[in-house]
Amino acid sequence: MNAIDYLRISLIDRCNFQCQYCMPEGADLTYALQQDWLTRAELRSLLTGVFVPAGFTRFRLTGGEPLLRPDVVEIVADIAHLPQTQDLSMTTNAFLLAKKAEALWQAGLRRLNISLDSLDPETFQAIVGGRGRSRWHDVWEGIQVAHQIGFAPLKLNVVVIPGVNDGEILDLAALSRDREWHVRFIEFMPIGNGDLFEHSGWIASEELRQRIRDRWGLTTGNVRGNGPADVFQIPGALGTVGFISQMSECFCDRCNRMRLSADGWLRPCLLNETGQINLRERLRQGTPLEEMRDRVITLVDAKPEINFKMRDSGTTGAYSRTMSQIGG
Ligand code: GTP
Ligand code: 5AD
Ligand code: SF4
Repeated sequence: MNAIDYLRISLIDRCNFQCQYCMPEGADLTYALQQDWLTRAELRSLLTGVFVPAGFTRFRLTGGEPLLRPDVVEIVADIAHLPQTQDLSMTTNAFLLAKKAEALWQAGLRRLNISLDSLDPETFQAIVGGRGRSRWHDVWEGIQVAHQIGFAPLKLNVVVIPGVNDGEILDLAALSRDREWHVRFIEFMPIGNGDLFEHSGWIASEELRQRIRDRWGLTTGNVRGNGPADVFQIPGALGTVGFISQMSECFCDRCNRMRLSADGWLRPCLLNETGQINLRERLRQGTPLEEMRDRVITLVDAKPEINFKMRDSGTTGAYSRTMSQIGG
């Protein structure tokens, strides 16, 4: 059995983008009240009193968009300085990254995963929404600044959308050739409002690999990470190309993570809410940390069952929350 030692911590459920596949037009987005967000001090207590003693040593900060959280830099510093932290990273849309990258680095963050669905500013804007100044240029600048500061590995996430960005696969893969960038192609997952998204198909990773293989060849590769990507490399490239294939190849049997939502729910599986625990409520009621730690350890032990046996049957709302609400 895999060790369950990777915690994805959502810092905020709101986002400054409205990616069509995540928050399609017409989606009902209900956000947590700000008073229900775990505070920095509460997060610190949960980490030192519950998660570290329960065996978690690898942490990822997610959202919504984590850089919208006003105290994001301080939270990064808290986690980076825990002696037990073996890995700390963040998944961001990079819109605010150019301004914040230096402070994040100073706080101890060393690696980033950034969503970049297109190299064409107009296509990008059509995917992420918003009017006025092109958002692509801000994101691209954020990526460049992060690269110059030295964040590594720097991973670029591409959700492949048939008829929208699938014509750019080779151009996106080519980003891994001259720089140590790790481009990952993600199969669209019909989670939270997926049926409202007009392009909601997916292309199997193997088809994308074949296109890249035909053009340049492809060997197996390697990059530091805790996630479900299968990693390959274009011969001679500095970076890698990865494939996250939740639709064509279920990777639940390799799952090593749990998720903590911004309002303090610990969720054992992205697609299944069975067994989830409201840690915020317990913390605010004064439940001893040792008692919460024991509950979490029990949930960790039950997790393989939750993944395999109940993945399809799910429980209330398993597919009704968007990725931004759950935390990517
Ligand atoms: P590292 O490998 O440590 O760099 O991170 P990661 O790939 O886990 O992180 P990231 O936030 O970049 O996740 C990329 C994509 O992986 C997400 O968009 C999801 O599509 C997918 N993913 C991550 N975790 C899960 C999971 O538990 N279940 C499923 N089905 N998909 C996941
Ligand atoms: N299917 C697959 N990936 C998704 N993401 C958001 N929604 C979906 C979905 N329905 C991706 C984003 C980001 C990561 C955290 O999740 O593109 O890179
Ligand atoms: Fe896009 Fe991520 Fe924001 Fe969802 S949470 S709208 S995928 S940037």
